[in-house]
Amino acid sequence: MATSLDDFVRNLPKAELHVHIEGTLEPEMMFALATRNGITLPYATLDEVREAYSFADLQSFLDVCYAGAAVLRTERDFDELMTAYLRRATADGVRRAEIFFDPQTYTNNGVGFDVFMPGFLSAIERCHSDLGIDSALIMCFLRHLPVESALDTFEAAEPYLERLLGVGLDSSELGHPPRDFELVFDRARAAGLHTVAHAGEEGPAAYVWSALDHLGVERIDHGVRAADDDALIARLVDSGVPLTMCPLSNLALGVVGRLEDHNLKAMLDRGVKVTINSDDPAYDGGYILDNYIATAQALDLSRTDLVRLASNSIEASFAPEADKAAWLAELAVVASTG
Ligand code: ADE
Ligand code: ZN
Repeated sequence: MATSLDDFVRNLPKAELHVHIEGTLEPEMMFALATRNGITLPYATLDEVREAYSFADLQSFLDVCYAGAAVLRTERDFDELMTAYLRRATADGVRRAEIFFDPQTYTNNGVGFDVFMPGFLSAIERCHSDLGIDSALIMCFLRHLPVESALDTFEAAEPYLERLLGVGLDSSELGHPPRDFELVFDRARAAGLHTVAHAGEEGPAAYVWSALDHLGVERIDHGVRAADDDALIARLVDSGVPLTMCPLSNLALGVVGRLEDHNLKAMLDRGVKVTINSDDPAYDGGYILDNYIATAQALDLSRTDLVRLASNSIEASFAPEADKAAWLAELAVVASTG
């Protein structure tokens, strides 16, 4: 008997390349940490939290997400947050997760690298040995803050650079072009780090060009608006620079009005190396499996499309080539028997 769509997608080995750890803070954990740390939340009940999760745009989401992250205070909090995400991702068939974190959100609350880094890293190591999931950290700079703050953050991260996979750029996009962060991205690349950036989520295709040309990024996070520019699509196809798309996030934040109107399938068919990811699953309506399933249903993706999306995710990851080859070989077996 043919496997259900859900089982088929779950069993595909895949990589998650666009998830913000702050965006995995579930309301239950937010309440528990607020109580443990003596922090007063602007919500009295879980229902009130869920009601607040109705977003008009990216900024209205970011305001709520950054406020929620204020409950994260101790090494144990960061360990528990990371452990919960990695368990959930493993259950969805994720073999490799490249996870964003926003240090400036924590340092602005008086919580330093010496607190969150050991918390994240202990969870990553424990989940690798207990669950087999392979994961790594990408440090994002908040683009609504000046480049000087990003440079200070890079300096504060220096003792931990060996433990970082790369750097990224996130937060409010409009009015904050990638070019503004050239200096800090140059430093990161010189230190041997990978580079990625959010571009073309709410911002124009010009910001995707800017991320490619001024920041030299290896992947574009979102890139929905790249479809407005044929020359840019040609550049993405020719260079093989992947897009880490997040369909349920795009729906929740009004980037698309209906999932049926998302351009993910059109981009895939045009030869762009598209991947499916969750972005902020506790806020946006779903983890990676939910994103695959909802997108498959809305855009009528075939099982061949789904296998292509999973293989793109593995190829687009920054994992060692031998690991990628092993996951791709496993994917080929699952795809042929599923
Ligand atoms: N930080 C968390 N989620 C984000 C998103 N979708 N865009 C930009 N910054 C973010
Ligand atoms: Zn994002």
